[in-house]
Amino acid sequence: MTSSDKIRVAVLYGGRSAEHEVSLRSAANVIQYLDQSRFEVIPIGIDKQGNWFLGNDVFAKSLEHNKVSQLHDGSHTWFAPEWIGNPSERQQIKYLVTRTPGGPHFDVVFPVVHGTLCEDGTLQGLLEIAGLPYVGCGVLSSAIGMDKDVSKRLAIGSGINVAPYIVIKHDQWEENPAWFFRQVEEKLSYPVFVKPANTGSSIGISKVKSADQLQTAINEAFRFDTKVLVEKALNVIELEVAVLESLKTNSDPVVSVVGEIRPTHEFYSYDAKYLDENGAELLIPAPIPEMVREQARLVAKTLFLALECEGMARVDLFLNKDNQQIYFNEINTIPGFTQISMYPKLMQATGISYPELLTHLIQLALKKHKNKSQLIRSYAG
Ligand SMILES: Nc1ncnc2c1ncn2[C@@H]1O[C@H](COP(=O)(O)OP(=O)(O)O)[C@@H](O)[C@H]1O
Ligand SMILES: [Mg+2]
Repeated sequence: MTSSDKIRVAVLYGGRSAEHEVSLRSAANVIQYLDQSRFEVIPIGIDKQGNWFLGNDVFAKSLEHNKVSQLHDGSHTWFAPEWIGNPSERQQIKYLVTRTPGGPHFDVVFPVVHGTLCEDGTLQGLLEIAGLPYVGCGVLSSAIGMDKDVSKRLAIGSGINVAPYIVIKHDQWEENPAWFFRQVEEKLSYPVFVKPANTGSSIGISKVKSADQLQTAINEAFRFDTKVLVEKALNVIELEVAVLESLKTNSDPVVSVVGEIRPTHEFYSYDAKYLDENGAELLIPAPIPEMVREQARLVAKTLFLALECEGMARVDLFLNKDNQQIYFNEINTIPGFTQISMYPKLMQATGISYPELLTHLIQLALKKHKNKSQLIRSYAG
């Protein structure tokens, strides 16, 4: 295959998100393991200020210093986020998707970015508008998957257990914090977890053991989001299941073996996830009874379908040790993709290697885009 026959994969990495650094590590692996005989990689970095640029700086682990601040090929700027909504720049936005004499800039986008403005449907919306195929969940499931409250409501609607929780919106909190204190006392019992509704990697999350710590934890969570969850802490075994859409139409998704995350910290905190290399043990398969594993797989599949996920998702569950029931915790629509991350490891244990997984995801993106592009967008009666 000559390089012009190869599928050009734009790997998006970095991002204006608290999980920027995590993305760099995942993207370095994706770039390394994409099948070079079929794909040509075009790395596109997004720095913490939201500037996009072309290049391989993922391996330098930081995009912040002295980098080209816009995505360009020497003569044209392809895209800059500030163009969105700016009519005078419309022509330039078109350039992002225009075929040049040398072919398209890229055939498919692989977003390897986490968190808000990346994994939450906003980036997916931009790619939809640009008419580009992209890997993974679409706008709807990305947005729902990111919101820990809305995704739980859909889980409840599908008959799946979730830990009891209350939602606090920032404006309401400012107006009447005492009301929320009472709600926590009446509806939940300590300890509780306080979480921003829309972050990942345990950023802004605290475990609160008594009422006197609650206010500090809520204020901390509000630094990251305008919606916060206060959730009853369960006594849990943490389970994770990887789900991958099938390439065959109307077939069930591939549901992986079940893994267990056993944090060595009080909970699976940011430090346990990324800073302490002994912060958690990953056990594949989870050492739990076979019947419970099957229940977990069924719950993961049910959630993937209920949230209308596309491509991939990692479904994080709790096995509540007090009643042996499976609970939904959260879903990650762009899971960690380092070689030691749970999603690729679970797929590997299910018989799909890391390079095969990447190829499968790109094939799915191209297939979906082809199907979508056949839809009628205007109707004259
Ligand atoms: N209700 C809960 N009961 C017990 N542990 C919890 C609960 N909620 C969160 N945790 C702990 O906090 C970690 C991070 O919470 P999670 O909701 O998964 O946020 P994130 O999206 O940042 O990973 C979990 O992996 C778990 O260790
Ligand atoms: Mg989590």
